[in-house]
Amino acid sequence: MKANKIITTLSKTIDVKRLKLIGVFTILSIIGTGNLVAQTVWLDQLDLSAATQGFGSPRKNKSVDGRTITIAGKAFDRGFGTHSESSLLIQLDGKATSFTAQVGIDDEIKGHEPAVEFIVYGDKQMLWSSGIMRLGDTPKLCSVLLTGIKRLELVVTDGGNGNYYDHADWADAKFQTTGVTSFPTVSLVPSEPYILTPVPSSKPRINGTGVFGVRPGSPFQFLIAATGDRPMNFSAKNLPPGLKLDSRTGLITGKLSSPGTAVVTLTAKNAKGKAEKKLRIVCGDRIALTPPMGWNSWNCFAGEVSADKVKRAADAMVKSGLINHGWTYINIDDFWQNHRNSKDQTLRGKFRDENGNIVPNSRFNNMKSLADYVHRLGLKIGLYSSPGPWTCGGCAGSYGYEKQDAETYAQWGFDYLKYDWCSYGNVAEEILKNNPSKVSSLSYQGGDNLSVAIKPYKLMGNYLLQQPRDIVFSLCQYGMSDVWKWGDSVNGNCWRTTNDITDTWTSVKSIALAQDKAAAWAKPGNWNDPDMLVVGTVGWGNPHPSKLKPDEQYLHFSLWCLFSAPLLLGCDMEKLDAFTLNLLTNDEVIDVNQDPLGKQATCLQTIGDLRIYVKELEDGSHAVGFCNFGIEKINVSYKDFEKLGIAGRQKVRDLWRQKDITTLNTKTDQLNIAVPVHGVLLYKFTSPK
Ligand code: GLA
Repeated sequence: MKANKIITTLSKTIDVKRLKLIGVFTILSIIGTGNLVAQTVWLDQLDLSAATQGFGSPRKNKSVDGRTITIAGKAFDRGFGTHSESSLLIQLDGKATSFTAQVGIDDEIKGHEPAVEFIVYGDKQMLWSSGIMRLGDTPKLCSVLLTGIKRLELVVTDGGNGNYYDHADWADAKFQTTGVTSFPTVSLVPSEPYILTPVPSSKPRINGTGVFGVRPGSPFQFLIAATGDRPMNFSAKNLPPGLKLDSRTGLITGKLSSPGTAVVTLTAKNAKGKAEKKLRIVCGDRIALTPPMGWNSWNCFAGEVSADKVKRAADAMVKSGLINHGWTYINIDDFWQNHRNSKDQTLRGKFRDENGNIVPNSRFNNMKSLADYVHRLGLKIGLYSSPGPWTCGGCAGSYGYEKQDAETYAQWGFDYLKYDWCSYGNVAEEILKNNPSKVSSLSYQGGDNLSVAIKPYKLMGNYLLQQPRDIVFSLCQYGMSDVWKWGDSVNGNCWRTTNDITDTWTSVKSIALAQDKAAAWAKPGNWNDPDMLVVGTVGWGNPHPSKLKPDEQYLHFSLWCLFSAPLLLGCDMEKLDAFTLNLLTNDEVIDVNQDPLGKQATCLQTIGDLRIYVKELEDGSHAVGFCNFGIEKINVSYKDFEKLGIAGRQKVRDLWRQKDITTLNTKTDQLNIAVPVHGVLLYKFTSPK
């Protein structure tokens, strides 16, 4: 018997019979006369930071919440606690003989019917799978032989429930080795930031949307976003009566009294040159004719938001120059209202005044003056509520006060409302009357019943429509009851299609893969919302640089543009680093998002892990994202243009690099494509004139 085999058999026997031969750390046995020393290497001895997981950081010897790992009542001292979905790559190079672990869902997770599947891959072949496991299932023994395996991947899937926040444990996880005392873990995506967007010219360029919708009688506010040296002088030909332009700032304000369309020629001039762009102003019943672009407080400040932080975010939007690329909304998320039971006194106070008007908490105080401040900068402002009695964070919601709240938002001068289902599932008046604090904040109850799902949004949608200003209505109910099919009927402008995003590859990937089903419903004024951008410094009150690698961020941003998704930054605007700023200021990439045709890209072809997304643009051209969702670099000589609906002679432009790369004949030519791991090539195909 060869030494390797002896070790394998021996170590398997040791694990299966669970003999307590293993010391706290290593060293097992010396085999025969050679000097091969079999070792036990515990999974928790490896560098687990290379793991990608649905949320938060991997835990050593603890559950996700930092408790003793416990599966179905059984406690374990050692192991790896991780959020599904999760993946850890380990470079074994043939030096491991076996892997064993006890796997299962940690007892600490509650609600949402957790489900996961543990899978072990060796050199891309599935070696073992737990099958779907649920909360309360007794731990399963995972035992695999690894002789000859070079690279091992430990995967936890979402178990088919679409959640990436279930708590999974690889407990008691360890390797038997041929003598080595550790293994490197592998991060496949380089972490060094690299810049793609060229520096904008000092000559003027007018950026942002080419079409703008407004309702008759609503206050009009549109800023001509332009890059180039200042001072700049703006003018507009054919501006309809009722509107006026500030030639110094480029801000168009006023009011249109009757429906109709005007095509205005905008001009921006500076010492270096002049730029022109057509703007279609459509006065009618539809707004948000291109996806809203801006910032939202949740992903960076969460429950720590304040008026001061919001003002500083607005200032930074201007100072950073993002405003010149079309970034517009400054949206306050949860926690501007008072909280039902927070220990933080700044959040405690009356929910409503004696007339039932909502009262902002002491960190906000005067919402009207905050809105004025943001408007003076040429930006717009949004806020957040829930149709339930409480928001997801436990602050006062709009239940029973919908009309009054819509009126208040309009009086304060707000332009955007995110309306989050949260506690609406618990709307049971008796419970509320008897014990409001017992009502949980987040409930999906009723969301799968179409008429229940629609009701609260219809109510608020109608009240918003009655206000004397345009308020973008953003539905947040995580895609329940196929919201994309009815969101328009309740005056919704955008709607979340999926659960909350986090700054991890698994989260971005699973959200991205869930968008196609809703694509057909995207159109001017109606946008599928895959949630906010997790770039820059994010962290839900615990700020850190996004855990997405640079290539993942290029892919994330490109996909959100292809999806015609609302582009809402979730980062600390005062901590924009050069990479993030460069990522967010590529006007040719943003143009894909803001294209007036308003189509959403779908994946038209898959070649292995390469997914090819195509978005039709108004001028007849196509934006194409060659997206690598796999763990190997992809090199392809591409020739299936027909499958993408692209025919004839085509000019191909690399949008990130803002460079024409070739002109080809789709019948006869091939295009060489090299896409980095978790990366993208974003090209525009145009028929040359
Ligand atoms: C939900 C939403 C988030 C955020 C929080 C606020 O989780 O999906 O985007 O608004 O509530 O509590």
